[in-house]
Amino acid sequence: GAAELGGYRHYMQKEIFEQPRALADTLEGVTGITPELFGPQAPVLLPQIERVLILACGTSYYSGCVAKYWLEAIARVPCEVEVASEYRYRESVPNPKTLVVVVSQSGETADTLAAQRHAQALGMTHTLTICNVATSAMVRECALAYITRAGVEVGVASTKAFTTQLAALFLLTLVLAKINGRLSAEQERAHLVAMRHLPLALQSVLALEPQVIAWSEDFVPKEHALFLGRGVHYPVALEGALKLKEISYIHAEAYPAGELKHGPLALVTSAMPVVAVAPNDALLEKLKSNLQEVRARGGVLYVLADADTRIESSEGVHVIRMPEHYGALSPILHVVPLQLLAYHTACARGTDVDKPRNLAKSVTVE
Ligand code: G6P
Repeated sequence: GAAELGGYRHYMQKEIFEQPRALADTLEGVTGITPELFGPQAPVLLPQIERVLILACGTSYYSGCVAKYWLEAIARVPCEVEVASEYRYRESVPNPKTLVVVVSQSGETADTLAAQRHAQALGMTHTLTICNVATSAMVRECALAYITRAGVEVGVASTKAFTTQLAALFLLTLVLAKINGRLSAEQERAHLVAMRHLPLALQSVLALEPQVIAWSEDFVPKEHALFLGRGVHYPVALEGALKLKEISYIHAEAYPAGELKHGPLALVTSAMPVVAVAPNDALLEKLKSNLQEVRARGGVLYVLADADTRIESSEGVHVIRMPEHYGALSPILHVVPLQLLAYHTACARGTDVDKPRNLAKSVTVE
C-alpha cells in the first residue's frame, strides 16, 4: 500500500532509490578481500578452481555478463556465462575444476535451479550462488553463497538486485585475483575505498533524475530504441534495453557498438533514438566514431558520458554527464540512469510499471 511506498509512485522507483542503502548493506562488514566472504568452505574450494561458469536468467544473466569482463581482466580466470535454460538442455563439456556460479534474486528461478542441478549431476560440485534470499533452494544446495542485501524486491523489473549482484561479483573477482597473486595490497586498499564510496556515488547519479526525465519525454512516442555499449558496458546496454522493453513495451535492443555496421545501422533513422553508454575507458575514441556513424544517418543520440569525456551536446546529440569517473565499478553506476529512463518512459506511457503484462517476478515453473 501507500505506506510501504513511502512517497514513491511505484515500487520500482522506490527500489531504484534504495540502491545506495542496498549497496551499503551488501558490502557491510567487508573490511578485506578474503575467501571466507563466500562461506566457510571457500578457502578450500576457491584455490582449486581453474575457470568460472555463470548460469542465470534475465537481469541476473546480464550481471553475469558484466562479471565475465571483470573475471578475465582482473582475476585472469577464464569465464563463460550462459542463459540457464540453454545450458540445462544442451550437451556441454563438464570440467570439475570449474566454479559454477548461479546468480539469482529469488534463488528459486526454475531454469537456473535446474541448470545448477544439471551442472552438479555432471560432477561439478564447486558451486556458488549469488542470491538475495538466504532461505532459497539455491543457497541450500550450493557449496558456497554470497547473500546480497538488497532487501525485498517487489517490482517485477529487477533493479537493486542487479546492482547488488554486481557488487558481489566484483568481490568474487577480487578474491580470485588475490588467490592468483594478481592483487597487490595497494590495489586491494584502493578497491575497498572505491567500494565504500559506492553509496555516495550512487546518490549523486540518482540526482540526475530530472535530466533523465527530460530524455524520457522524447522516448514516450517511440516504438523502437537502440542501446549501444562496448566492453564491460555492453551488458549494461543490454540491461538498459531489457528494462525499457519490459515496462514501457517499446521494442529495444542492445548492440556492442562495434557491431553497428554489421546490421543495426540499417535501422537508424530519426524515428529510433540511440542510447550510448560512454564511459571514459580505452574504447571511448572508437565509440565516438561509432556515434558519428549514427549521427550521419540522422539518428538522435542520447549519450551517458563520463565526467571527463569531451562529448558535448549538439544538434541531435543529448548528453548527460556522469558526476565522476568510476574505474572498474563503472557498470554499477552507469546502469542507474538507464533504469530511470525506462521507469519514467513507462510512467508517461501509463503502463503497469510494477507488474508489466505477461511477466512474473519469479518464474518458478518452466
Ligand atoms: C524474471 C524477472 C526478472 C529476473 C528474472 C530472473 O524474469 O522478471 O526481473 O531478472 O526472472 O530472476 P532471478 O530471481 O533468478 O534473479
